[in-house]
Amino acid sequence: MSNFNQESVLSVRHWTDNLFSFTTTRNPSFRFRSGEFTMIGLKVDDRPLLRAYSVASAHYEDTLEFFSIKVPDGPLTSRLQHLQEGDEIIVSRKATGTLVIDNLEDGRNLYLIGTGTGLAPFLSVIKDPEVYDRFEKVVLLHGCRRVAELAYGETIHEKLPNDELLGELVRNQLIYYPTVTRDPFRNRGRITDLITSGKLFADTGLPPLEAAHDRVMICGSPALVKDSRELLVARGFAEGNHGEPAQFVVEKAFAER
Ligand code: A2P
Repeated sequence: MSNFNQESVLSVRHWTDNLFSFTTTRNPSFRFRSGEFTMIGLKVDDRPLLRAYSVASAHYEDTLEFFSIKVPDGPLTSRLQHLQEGDEIIVSRKATGTLVIDNLEDGRNLYLIGTGTGLAPFLSVIKDPEVYDRFEKVVLLHGCRRVAELAYGETIHEKLPNDELLGELVRNQLIYYPTVTRDPFRNRGRITDLITSGKLFADTGLPPLEAAHDRVMICGSPALVKDSRELLVARGFAEGNHGEPAQFVVEKAFAER
C-alpha cells in the first residue's frame, strides 16, 4: 500500500508575494495531533517531490490546510505556488512532530511563539478544545517583518471568537499578540525582546514567564529557535520531547532547501 494519499486542492489564498496557503480534501484515514507536520508535495517527472509542512487545520476538520512561503527557485514551492482549485497534491499518511501538548507538563499559561510560517502548527493548536482544557490562557505570539505578513490575523481575531464550537473558549482564554519589526504597527519588536523587556506582560496583563507555571512552544527560523531556547533555559525552563514532557518544546519552521 502506498505511503501517500492523493488530495485535491479546494482553495488557494495568496497573502503576499511570498506567502500563500491552501486547503485540500482529507482522506478520512489521515490522523494527526494538533501541532504536527506531515510530508506533502507533487509528482515531478513521475517521482514524488516532498517537503515537511505543519498541518494548519484542526484535527477534527474534514479538510487540510497548509501555509507556505514561496522560496525563489525552490524546487517544490516554485511549483506549489501555482496550485489551483482541483489540482492534485500528495500527502503522507503519517504525521509527526514535537509541538504537541503531550510533550508539555501541565501548567498555567501556554505561550505559542511563531515567526513567519512558523505560525502554521499553532493555527491547529488554537483550534483544539483540549488545549483550553489543559491551560488557563493560550497566548499566541506571531512575529513578522511586515504587517502584510501577519496572515490569518482576521480569522484569529474575528472568526474564531464567533465559532460555534470554540467561540467561548477563544473569547475567554486565547490572547493573540501579533508583532512586526519593520513596519509601523500597534505591537512592535522581536518576540524575544518583548519577553525580555517585559513589554509583552505589561501589554497583556499576564505575569512574567515562570518555569514553574508556564509552558512554551516555539516554531520559527533557526535564529529565532536558538535565541528563544537560550532565553527560556536561562529562566530555568527544560526542553521536552517525545516521552519526556517538560516546560517547552521546539520545532524549526520548515523552509525549503
Ligand atoms: P527582524 O526584522 O528584526 O529580523 P524572518 O522572516 O527573518 O524569519 O523573521 C520573521 C520575524 O522574526 C521578524 O520580525 C524578525 O525580526 C524576527 N526574528 C528574526 N530572527 C529572530 C531572533 N533571533 N529572535 C527573535 N526574533 C527574530
